[in-house]
Amino acid sequence: MNVHERAPNCEPAAELTLERKLSRMPVRSGTLGPEVIEVGKLYRDTGCFTYDPGFTSTANCTSRITYIDGDEGVLLYRGYPIDQLAERSTFLEVCYLLLNGELPTTGQLDEFRGTINRHNMLHEQVTRFFTGFRRDAHPMAVMVGTVGALSAFYHDSTDINDPAQRAMASNRMIAKMPTIAAMAYKYSIGHPFIYPRNDLDFAANFMQMCFAIPCEPYKIDPILTRALDRIFILHADHEQNASTSTVRLAGSSGANPFACIASGIACLWGPAHGGANEAALNMLMEIGSVDRIPEYIKKAKDKSSGFRLMGFGHRVYKNYDPRAKVMQKTCHEVLNALGIKHDPVLEVAMELERIALQDEYFIDKKLYPNIDFYSGITLRALGFPMSMFTVLFAIARTVGWVAQWNEMIEDPEQRIGRPRQLYLGPAERNFVPMDQRS
Ligand code: ACO
Repeated sequence: MNVHERAPNCEPAAELTLERKLSRMPVRSGTLGPEVIEVGKLYRDTGCFTYDPGFTSTANCTSRITYIDGDEGVLLYRGYPIDQLAERSTFLEVCYLLLNGELPTTGQLDEFRGTINRHNMLHEQVTRFFTGFRRDAHPMAVMVGTVGALSAFYHDSTDINDPAQRAMASNRMIAKMPTIAAMAYKYSIGHPFIYPRNDLDFAANFMQMCFAIPCEPYKIDPILTRALDRIFILHADHEQNASTSTVRLAGSSGANPFACIASGIACLWGPAHGGANEAALNMLMEIGSVDRIPEYIKKAKDKSSGFRLMGFGHRVYKNYDPRAKVMQKTCHEVLNALGIKHDPVLEVAMELERIALQDEYFIDKKLYPNIDFYSGITLRALGFPMSMFTVLFAIARTVGWVAQWNEMIEDPEQRIGRPRQLYLGPAERNFVPMDQRS
């Protein structure tokens, strides 16, 4: 295949010749990142599809929301570096930014906060919906079911062609997700549900819905709620990851927004995606003490063991995950605030990171700690059980999902997502009657 340089007055293009059939494919540039070759006419020109399991070289859409440079360890939301946002903004400010493209003024943020507060309660009948679940149901199962069911409660925000209804559905989901998540937790431990409080910020309100009980006042610790707010910022969007692509694919058929976000939650649940922080914490606890680290490093390097260092490596980041740096700092802040001087799990994590980053295997394969390496330790210290870790991820990622879903609906190039395949099954054959089958 040839890629032609841009000639004056001429768009750059790649040319592919296959058995004398030529396809001329435009090359498009973005603001940042690699150019893309538009292969949409390849089948028409050559009769061939492209094959790219896992979409390692395939861009599925244009987007103006989030940019990642995996080689340099860069993550930008609407152009702003993640570390600056984590340090200097709040989760609701980041939500506004992701949804609208610009940081809010004070007035815009106040109005947005008011809107989110107005929508954080659930239709009272949803409360009864909860009692249909078993007490030991995984909270992610409850999230998938309840968020999917919201389309049965909020009929006035399911018309995807009406921008006002789309905005209403987006705000409803951002606002109600913490309420649903806290209810899932309270239900699992047999506690009464705690209603949202509009005098608290987003993260503090979520913590009180999870940890307050009706018989005594709940004390807010601003260091801990700020840490949770920062964790939400770090997880708010991550361009076309598996769950976001799932939301876009579901949405491409015109499905209602609540159903689309439920599909994103289902995808996030997998251990290779949102479930990895739980796996990383489990691994650190299993290692238990620094003297056992060499044994685990050896196991991770041995392909036949089937063991991987959880919280290490990333499909896109081939450098330090910029979110992991902020997460590590947040982890220390939380443990200090709680007066935890020696956390054996944190000690194992830090030593494991130190050893792995000096090891040829990890250096050669560009395996660095990802966000999940320190998030499990932090969330556990904040008081959340492991089963809630992925749920917290879902609360934060909801804004990314709805921002990407809205962008897709407004994109004139958007079509129903319909991948093709390389068929390897039997060629056409005639039906065999039962008495002739062997
Ligand atoms: N420990 C040991 N070896 C590893 C690890 C690891 N954590 N991750 C990758 N490798 C090795 C692979 O064995 C492979 O070796 P090879 O080239 O000799 O065959 C090489 O590094 C490349 O690995 P791939 O699996 O091809 O990389 P891919 O990009 O497909 O996978 C993934 C990325 C799934 C994240 C992987 O690194 C992994 O399994 N990590 C552990 C799970 C984890 O932490 N997931 C969280 C991701 S972040 C998130 O979802 C928020």
